[in-house]
Amino acid sequence: MNKLVKAMLHNKNIVLGVCGGIAAYKACELTSRLKKQDANIDVIMTKSAAEFVTQLTFQSLSLNQVITDMFDKPKHWEIEHISLAKKADIIVIAPATANVIGKLANGIADDMLTTTVMASKAIKLIAPAMNTNMYENVVVQRNIETLKQLGYYFIEPSEGRLACGDIGKGKMAEPELIETKIKELLLKPQDLEGKTVLVTAGPTIEALDPVRFITNHSTGKMGFAIAEKAVSRGAKVHLVSGPSNLPTPYGVERHDVESALDMYDAVMKLMEKADIIIKSAAVADYRIAEVSSEKIKKSEEEFVIKLKKNPDILQELGKIKGSKVLIGFAMETQNLIENAKTKVAKKNLDFIVANNLKTEGAGFAADTNVVKIIDKSGNVEDIPLMKKSDLADIILDKAISINK
Ligand code: PMT
Repeated sequence: MNKLVKAMLHNKNIVLGVCGGIAAYKACELTSRLKKQDANIDVIMTKSAAEFVTQLTFQSLSLNQVITDMFDKPKHWEIEHISLAKKADIIVIAPATANVIGKLANGIADDMLTTTVMASKAIKLIAPAMNTNMYENVVVQRNIETLKQLGYYFIEPSEGRLACGDIGKGKMAEPELIETKIKELLLKPQDLEGKTVLVTAGPTIEALDPVRFITNHSTGKMGFAIAEKAVSRGAKVHLVSGPSNLPTPYGVERHDVESALDMYDAVMKLMEKADIIIKSAAVADYRIAEVSSEKIKKSEEEFVIKLKKNPDILQELGKIKGSKVLIGFAMETQNLIENAKTKVAKKNLDFIVANNLKTEGAGFAADTNVVKIIDKSGNVEDIPLMKKSDLADIILDKAISINK
């Protein structure tokens, strides 16, 4: 693997933007690490970065000219920022200050770094470093969210003692972690190129009257993670989601729905073009039999609601799936394997991802999951506690191996 990483980074052009902050010294280590991987590094320093580390340091480590002020060399700057913007495979800003993040999120390009970033279609990775209160400031968080939605990748700062003496989140991620993330972004397989993936996520809500509804605790995290990973691996992705506050992953086509019947309609419209269908949504099995058009008034001590069965979307898909890969989820509180196996057979699935609500770190709302993947031959694979984003890759790997 190391040989492959080295060989592939050999041709990679990395533009490293360094902003003013004490973490600028860690950018030196990052430069050195990337250089050892045979990457070509061009460093752009902001004026304030040059107050912390010298141009000469980065020049010596990168073996390239280091750019600071775009007016340093009149007549050359325009060519340089455009050529670096075009040449870059990835632009990494480490450390990134609230100032530069704010400029990028709001279209301000007033120095060499911001003009280069805005003129570039390369992958962008940002490693923020700043005081905790500043990092948690709603404006900074809003700017980060804006950039994420525009496809910028972020590597979160860690917690610890900051240069200002405060203890909290704001330390730039370690160079080793940034290096790993760069490799992940530059070397990730495009093994879903040409494929269409249909993912469902979140809960459904079933109205009782104009004011009330029944629903469940799904947040959409699992399905959104799958959609995001599928796009990053080259797929065209349709995400049919019940109500969820999560931002749409960059590049994903989102279709918002509310009830199980809405989800059924959306999925049936989109399924034909899909090569892989992954149903991680928590769909209500029942809806209210008679939805009141007016708010139901309080009266008797007991109030009985009559429910009506919803269509089982996954089961319907199983009847017409043909050669498509069909993957279900199973949320259980007991007899996980038995129940999940029954669902694989009944719904004609290629495999099912089963999670138990009672397992620590699994199921609703968490950033992690613990699952068993059960295929149609009855093989059971234990997947330990891991981030939903990592599980998403495992599910996609398995789907691709079936879709070949
Ligand atoms: O969204 P998060 O907060 O990240 O939580 C993730 C999750 C817990 C919702 C997810 O991991 C999960 O388990 N999703 C499936 C939940 C569920 O509805 O399980 P089930 O065993 O009731 O349904 C089995 C399968 O049939 C599911 O793929 C479901 O989408 C599908 N189904 C169920 C009922 C129905 N009417 N139509 C369906 O398509």
